[in-house]
Amino acid sequence: MSWHPLETITTSSPPPPSSPSSVNRTASIAGSSSESQVCSSAPSMYASQILLQYLPIPKSLKHPSNASQNSFLTTFKPSSKTTLKLRAILSENSLLSEDGSLFKHCFTKSEDGYLCCEGLRVEDVMNNVEKSPFYLYSKPQITRNFQAYRDALEGLDSIIGYAIKANNNLKILEHLRKLGCGAVLVSGNELRLALHAGFDPTRCIFNGNGKLLKELVLAAQEGVFVNVDSEFDLDNIISAARIAGKKVNLLLRINPDVDPQVHPYVATGNKNSKFGIRNEKLQWFLDAVKAHPNELKLVGAHCHLGSTITKVDIFWDAAVLMVNYIDQIRAQGFKIDYLNIGGGLGIDYYHTGAVLPSPRDLIDTVRELVLSRDLNLIIEPGRSLIANTCCLVNHVTGVKTNGTKKFIVIDGSMAELIRPSLYDAYQHIELVSPSSPGAGISTFDVVGPVCESADFLGKDRELPTPASGAGLVVHDAGAYCMSMASTYNLKMRPPEYWVEEDGSVAKIRHAETFEDHIRYFEVLVELPNYGNSNSDGKPLKLL
Ligand SMILES: Cc1ncc(COP(=O)(O)O)c(C=O)c1O
Repeated sequence: MSWHPLETITTSSPPPPSSPSSVNRTASIAGSSSESQVCSSAPSMYASQILLQYLPIPKSLKHPSNASQNSFLTTFKPSSKTTLKLRAILSENSLLSEDGSLFKHCFTKSEDGYLCCEGLRVEDVMNNVEKSPFYLYSKPQITRNFQAYRDALEGLDSIIGYAIKANNNLKILEHLRKLGCGAVLVSGNELRLALHAGFDPTRCIFNGNGKLLKELVLAAQEGVFVNVDSEFDLDNIISAARIAGKKVNLLLRINPDVDPQVHPYVATGNKNSKFGIRNEKLQWFLDAVKAHPNELKLVGAHCHLGSTITKVDIFWDAAVLMVNYIDQIRAQGFKIDYLNIGGGLGIDYYHTGAVLPSPRDLIDTVRELVLSRDLNLIIEPGRSLIANTCCLVNHVTGVKTNGTKKFIVIDGSMAELIRPSLYDAYQHIELVSPSSPGAGISTFDVVGPVCESADFLGKDRELPTPASGAGLVVHDAGAYCMSMASTYNLKMRPPEYWVEEDGSVAKIRHAETFEDHIRYFEVLVELPNYGNSNSDGKPLKLL
């Protein structure tokens, strides 16, 4: 193994479901006679019944390094054990893909018990990077995940809008953009980042329940699709269109009230959610759009049910409701071309080998509905594109017990990876190398050094007792981990690396440093005295 000049390590080794159980309430548009017919007959129906009645369905980081990192890089000496001849084997959670070939997952165990990423020992990467913990991705796995969606969508007009909130690493965004992704954005800065990464704005969708006017102006200027979330949101979109001097392509984010059967914190499409418009208000929105032909062009309908969804019939239920809305909206003269069914497909966090729905299962579930209405399908995957491409790699600091419980204390924490603390989420944990023969297996909580009892990465995990300094990974850390990382307890955000197609390792984000933190306090100035004064009439000071 040797470092590439630009911070790169190389290695020499090489059918629609049947039960619509998730529908809580059926759709209606209040206020028009044809709709009230639907309304009056619909409430007790399941989505599939509505469908039958109303819908005729034809059947490396080659990032300029800073001085200190360069000095680290130039002092690295390849060690003999890094001449790798590991055979990439399939992980325990390998699956058969549709064509019968084995689904290849990037993280695998070698026959001699070492965890590998694309055939490269994680331990070797640990020995050659400057900081711990760090995120380690497989670039080829990102490509494979994208290809699964692209292949599934064959025969449909579609946009794969990658949900940037899942992971906003610029290098990953550029890679996904080159593969053909659009982008899904939930803030003005995500929009700016998407533009920076070269995404085609006309394949981007701006979501959110609290979009600001200035963010909407940028979206309008750039020609991004905008999802309408509320009455005030529509007002702001109209203002933004006027300021930008451009018509905005709109999708109505309808809350279909479908229960995604996930943790309440990641459910977004049910009745009590803060997202989307209530279906009873749909007619109000249609009238408002009609009243602003110079500012607004209604082109589609959107829903997003939630995240970590593991049953595709939930998407079917939502799609049935959504095409019903689209039929009704079209009946009022709107030219609706897009159905956006959001993101939300779950992944196998438990590594039990469970066969979860694939992108193909998801798309096949809605395919006929989409074709029957001649719609362009937008999907917004985040987690299912990026989560399984990455591990958080940590060092074990030590092992302790409080008398009743045993703890493995690692250098990573809830600051770098908050999902277990925030959602009680399970992420699979394992050691990167075979344990010594005498190491007994025990049940441990895997915890970080952050001063919070909520600082755990895993609870009650059966693991061999690790030595201090051993490597330990938290799997499936590609989505909602680094993008949710904080600097709590001044644990600065970790660096990110990926293994490339040729087996080399490239840094794709620098570690944040203590010096970065200090910089926020440099050259602080008094606020100018534009009437900003305290009760004594003296100017307010920042310090
Ligand atoms: C509107 C919207 N679209 C897409 C996504 C991505 O979801 P996931 O990462 O579960 O695919 C989210 C995430 O919650 C979202 O809120």
